[in-house]
Amino acid sequence: MAEYKIAVIDGDGIGPEIVAQAIKILKKIENLSGNTFVFEHVLMGGRAIDEFGEPLPQETIDVCLNSDAVLLGAVGGPKWDNLPGHLRPEAGLLGIRSALGLFANLRPAILYRPLIDACQLRRDIAERGIDLVVVRELTGGIYFGERGFKDDGKTAYDTEIYSEQEVERIARIGFELAKTRRKNVISIDKANVLESSRLWRKVVERVAQDYPDIAFQNMLVDNAAMQIIRDPSQFDVIITTNMFGDILSDEASMTTGSIGMLPSASLGSSKLGLYEPIHGSAPDIAGQDKANPIATILSVAMMLRSSIHMPEYAQKIEDAVSSVLEDGYRTGDIMSEGKTLVGCEKMGDLIADAID
Ligand code: IPM
Ligand code: MG
Repeated sequence: MAEYKIAVIDGDGIGPEIVAQAIKILKKIENLSGNTFVFEHVLMGGRAIDEFGEPLPQETIDVCLNSDAVLLGAVGGPKWDNLPGHLRPEAGLLGIRSALGLFANLRPAILYRPLIDACQLRRDIAERGIDLVVVRELTGGIYFGERGFKDDGKTAYDTEIYSEQEVERIARIGFELAKTRRKNVISIDKANVLESSRLWRKVVERVAQDYPDIAFQNMLVDNAAMQIIRDPSQFDVIITTNMFGDILSDEASMTTGSIGMLPSASLGSSKLGLYEPIHGSAPDIAGQDKANPIATILSVAMMLRSSIHMPEYAQKIEDAVSSVLEDGYRTGDIMSEGKTLVGCEKMGDLIADAID
């Protein structure tokens, strides 16, 4: 019987509610597997600012580095919106991704069959099936490039910057993933305008040559934004930059019914990973038991595949989510006619009960 350490960052807004459901699932898996999860709660984001005056205390980084995995809710909220950039909750999130070396962000967008009515697309398009993964570069690009003000604060700038080494390692993650899936990679850039995208494209094309069995193409980001809506079934693995991946993963999420359905895994070169839903802290519905916990619960499944070797339990979680949706239970964001509306906690209970 093994023991695993999980650092937990509840976060702000709906963070604590959705994380509580994810922990419920992990406790159920403890019972079934005989393995033990030791949870250590640490602060990051708005609550860390309130308590320690900074969004990412060193202690949080240390606890995370000493864990097998990190579970995160979401951070941010109007209370902290007027702070300078480097003191905002979001700076804590970027800081932890960087401090843990988590350069690869995997964001699977899957349309669960029972949610076909919640999908925003025309039925015949949805019926082709949607099962794609955005592989987003997470510790480089414009998020981490030089930024600042000049002209006495009258001009502001941010810099998109990528090295060949950064592009190569994320490209390899994407191609390796494609091997285990439908063997199709689309790399998304803006190479008709940006120098950094031309370098991106050159490196990804070079990596593609090592994978002759994987179908590969480049796509410009504006076209990609259109294609994801026109026919998402054409995408298997998308490899893209930090910023484009941020935007396109929100877009792709709506083809699955709701942003409340998309989990993510942030990985580096060790087993340690950070697992979080792709959505934000939704302050408008915080504390009302309305949030959809499925993205966070599916993030736990990703954790059990990538950081803690329990793939059979990852499958059980995904099957449980399917069966609860099949049974007609819905949170508000994925509600449609004739279904049963439930709150965050009840959705967590139903999924935990469906795991066997
Ligand atoms: C995400 C979020 C974050 C990002 C924000 C909160 C900094 O939108 O994880 O997609 O832009 O990466
Ligand atoms: Mg985002």
